[in-house]
Amino acid sequence: MLRTHTCGELRINHINQEVTLCGWVQKNRDLGALTFIDLRDHFGITQLVFNMDSNPELCLQARELGREFVVSAKGIVKVRSSKNKNIDTGEIEIEVFDLKILNSAKTPPFTIEDNTDGGDELRMKFRYLDLRRKPLHSNIVLRHKTLQAVRNFLTHTGFTEIETPFLIKSTPEGARDFVVPSRMHPDSFYALPQSPQTFKQLLMMSGFDRYFQIVKCFRDEDLRADRQPEFTQIDCELSFIELSDVYQIFTEMVKTILKEVKNIDLPEVPFMTYADAMKFYGSDKPDLRFDDKISPIFFLENSETVNQFPPFAEAIAENGSIAGIVVKGKAEYTRKQLDALTEKVKSWGLKGLFYIKHNADQSLKSSADKFFTTENLEQMAEVANSNPNDLLLMVSGKTKKIQKVLGDLRLYLAEQENYKDNTIYKPLWVTDFPMFEYNEETDSFTYMHHPFTSPNQEDIKLLKSGDLENVRALAYDFVLNGKEVGGGSIRIHDSELQALVFKTLGISDEEAKDKFGFLLQALSFGAPPHGGIAFGLDRLVAIMAETDSIRDVIAFPKNNAGRDLMLDAPAPIDEIQKKELGFS
Ligand code: AMO
Repeated sequence: MLRTHTCGELRINHINQEVTLCGWVQKNRDLGALTFIDLRDHFGITQLVFNMDSNPELCLQARELGREFVVSAKGIVKVRSSKNKNIDTGEIEIEVFDLKILNSAKTPPFTIEDNTDGGDELRMKFRYLDLRRKPLHSNIVLRHKTLQAVRNFLTHTGFTEIETPFLIKSTPEGARDFVVPSRMHPDSFYALPQSPQTFKQLLMMSGFDRYFQIVKCFRDEDLRADRQPEFTQIDCELSFIELSDVYQIFTEMVKTILKEVKNIDLPEVPFMTYADAMKFYGSDKPDLRFDDKISPIFFLENSETVNQFPPFAEAIAENGSIAGIVVKGKAEYTRKQLDALTEKVKSWGLKGLFYIKHNADQSLKSSADKFFTTENLEQMAEVANSNPNDLLLMVSGKTKKIQKVLGDLRLYLAEQENYKDNTIYKPLWVTDFPMFEYNEETDSFTYMHHPFTSPNQEDIKLLKSGDLENVRALAYDFVLNGKEVGGGSIRIHDSELQALVFKTLGISDEEAKDKFGFLLQALSFGAPPHGGIAFGLDRLVAIMAETDSIRDVIAFPKNNAGRDLMLDAPAPIDEIQKKELGFS
């Protein structure tokens, strides 16, 4: 070993020991009589000290060390006179008597400190340097701990880890496939898996009781802060289970991860149907962290009293709704702030925003007082359940549209007011997703999760009668702090029902046979009842790392345009390779 200890290890009980440390020069401070160097490695930072009086030659050598030089330093552990409470080794320093330069370094393109001066693009180009920075470095370690906790939990809960192939045929998860041309089969392509969905179902049919895999998935879709073209799933499947087993096992999994990795106790996980989530939060992934500050959506059911107000009357006439949210304690919002919110709502496609200030003296002041009696306003405040000092924000229009706008408004205000506290954890199971989703562009129904999801047994009659909008699936999502971190379903295990669902989706017998013949066949050889879920590992770790972007928890991510700036990928390939693959 080149070292006796790491840069994160030495404490007051090591005083007077002779030690050798290795690491990178993070900072070099020349104070005349003394020179200090912050030496950094994977484990932490230790201060080295060089004394001009006692060892001028060594001190001069130390002063010459540039940022990111790799050195080995031998010395004696001493008590530090000015202690640094911010680092674990802050009570000691090393009085160095021997110094070796293991490697020199060019000046890095940005400062390698917790707060860096490097822009996003530059840091992605030099990702290996960015990864030396503590915030990013510790995220990757957090990810490792999460992986250990997951493997441990699932192994102890009876799951078998099984790998499935990457070079496959298309998987129907709703995104575009990345494809790989085959040299040996010109004009033919493999598709990279959007998920191992069909394989994990086949493994249940192979008699494995519970499967898991921590696996890369590939989806060619528009990217966002919580989406990467290749991302990692904690992919699970279980046989002979019911919904309640899934909820119990995976609530326990998230609970165990949070406890082991962050020492955080996950609160009770409530359940909410998809219909309620959309109704009260305008979203299928409600963020429950700030319900005490911004209320869920309320509806004015008894609307006769407000017919005098044209926008409300119009909504009623077109069978729409009048709804709103209460922003607690914000009756103080100025005209300017309220105008800005109105503009925001207009930019989302509504005609305007109506508000009522519930004043401290109980009086109510609205943005359209001439259309309402005091009694009308009091009724609205009662429905909204508002209190003095609260602000009611209301809109009217098509029900789905206003739910979406109010949901977005909740999130927008929470962002503005800093209500999204990343140190708290608010989980939720969203249940009873619809089986199908109407696509306006194609004027047809498509599956909401994937076509192997089981309909709710009670709704099979609706499926048969063609009332597709109202068929509920046995599908669920695990939501944490407003992010969908997991999703899954109980699957169809009966080949006839599977064939009916394919038919309902407009997939012909021929197409079904061509695309999923292997699965239909496997279902006919005694498939056990089964179901499963996949968690987005990147999203889960990002929440624990208290960051909004999953890029911060992936060692080598792509940028928002799907590029790897370090490798400069994707890139053209040379002519010979192209020819071999049949492109020319
Ligand atoms: P689903 O498509 O919901 O389900 O994916 C499961 C979870 O994976 C995460 N996720 C992503 N994370 C980062 N970037 C992406 N582009 C991305 N897409 C999805 C989310 C999501 O909840 N086979 C089914 C699971 C099942 O039915 O068992 C599936 O893949 O956190």
